[in-house]
Amino acid sequence: MIKKVHHVGVVVKSADEALKFYRDALGLEVTADRVIEDQGVRGVLLKIGNSEIELLEPTRNDTGVAKFLESRGEGMHHLCFESDDVAAELEGAKAKGITLIDEKPRPGLAGMIGFCHPKSNHGVLVEFATPIEGEHH
Ligand code: CO
Repeated sequence: MIKKVHHVGVVVKSADEALKFYRDALGLEVTADRVIEDQGVRGVLLKIGNSEIELLEPTRNDTGVAKFLESRGEGMHHLCFESDDVAAELEGAKAKGITLIDEKPRPGLAGMIGFCHPKSNHGVLVEFATPIEGEHH
């Protein structure tokens, strides 16, 4: 079951530069900041009430996030819904004819995650996430 908007993903050229806005100007707290090697991104999560902003800075040129930055520039990238069962969300979406990017959940910054293709979702890249219990965010 979908519970809430977990985070909004924003692609940036430089997370350090973007933190001057989200952390320094808005005063949001950074709850995670790490490089996910296999995805070629530095991800930074900032807490905003019960939800988060996820900054995505490409660390290589051959990733989806890098291509997004090159073709579309900085800006909103995806919307993530928190679910208690990301695998069930993916299966349910597939059964309803929604095109998936991830057939199975995989580890991401927000826990176990999976993406649906924006062509099925009116142009919005949609992520489902099930946070891992006790993880810090
Ligand atoms: Co995300």
